[in-house]
Amino acid sequence: MAKEIKTIGILTSGGDAPGMNAAIRAVVRKAIANGVKVKGIKKGYQGLLNEEIIDMDAHSVSDVIQRGGTILGTARCSEFRTEEGQKKGAQICKKHGIDGLVVVGGDGSYRGAQALSQHGINTIGLPGTIDLDIACTDYTIGFDTAVNTAMQAIDKVRDTSSSHERCSIIEVMGRNAGYIALWCGIANGAEDILLPEKYDFNEQQIINNIIKNRKRGKTHHLIINAEDIGHSTSMARRIEAATGIETRATILGYMQRGGSPTCKDRYWASIMGAYAADILCEGKTNRVVAMKNGSIVDFDIEEALAMQKSIDEYQYQVARILSM
Ligand code: ADP
Ligand code: F6P
Repeated sequence: MAKEIKTIGILTSGGDAPGMNAAIRAVVRKAIANGVKVKGIKKGYQGLLNEEIIDMDAHSVSDVIQRGGTILGTARCSEFRTEEGQKKGAQICKKHGIDGLVVVGGDGSYRGAQALSQHGINTIGLPGTIDLDIACTDYTIGFDTAVNTAMQAIDKVRDTSSSHERCSIIEVMGRNAGYIALWCGIANGAEDILLPEKYDFNEQQIINNIIKNRKRGKTHHLIINAEDIGHSTSMARRIEAATGIETRATILGYMQRGGSPTCKDRYWASIMGAYAADILCEGKTNRVVAMKNGSIVDFDIEEALAMQKSIDEYQYQVARILSM
């Protein structure tokens, strides 16, 4: 028989993402509607180990749906990767009467949730990351806002780049995943897209492409560089030296993680948050909420973590062809 759930906890973990607040609000209010008490855990697993735990009611999540970041705070916590840290986390949950926990974060945070479930705390993961790099789901909370923020910024850089007939390298986030770069590559009409999953470090080919396009009359050349693929500033210097075309680098950085969430992020974070509260209150554990083919579903964490996801080859080829 499923464990009776009287009190649940919620925490956000890893990099923050716009829409996390909408998810927190939905979890809190749906759990309360289900007759369950809610505690908020501040600063992710680090806050759990430090017992930074607060009572939450419907009013605690007033006026937050439109706010970026996470009202609970977030952190990366190395102690939670250890067996002792995980045991201590479960004991603290028990001490505070927390029978179940919703964890909003990425794959790393799911591993922490999986460990807690093994120590007797029911857990449900919600996909919160701007990177869209969780294999089991077609949607992650924050990606839509981040990619729209990046797209608007790139449009602005394009205006000045084109006026000065320059080449621009724009670095977007996504250290291990090129989804922001791919989407902006298509949406901003970039000439080159450097993705961690695809880039072969053939800079000469980029240089040849720039020279060819300039001869054909293109007034600008946009290169979207996913974080950590190359050092954008030194790449700009090398490209300028090789082509004779003024080249500038712009690193968009953390602005992509902040800001008011889009309607899509508020909407799906709310639906997913409510769903997480429901399945947790039903006594489910070790599950993650996901979107598949437009519907909200849930998977076993082990199964979800074993799934693989890669850049769609057709979409990547389209991005390249359309930039002709
Ligand atoms: P994300 O959740 O976005 O993937 P991280 O990989 O930084 O972000 O993970 C967030 C936090 O989750 C880590 O700081 C750590 O506390 C916890 N975590 C990550 N990996 C594990 C693991 N293998 N076991 C337990 N906890 C983990
Ligand atoms: O996972 C989200 C993300 O913003 C990545 O795109 C980026 O590589 C990383 O987090 C940056 O992490 P930190 O906040 O530790 O600099």
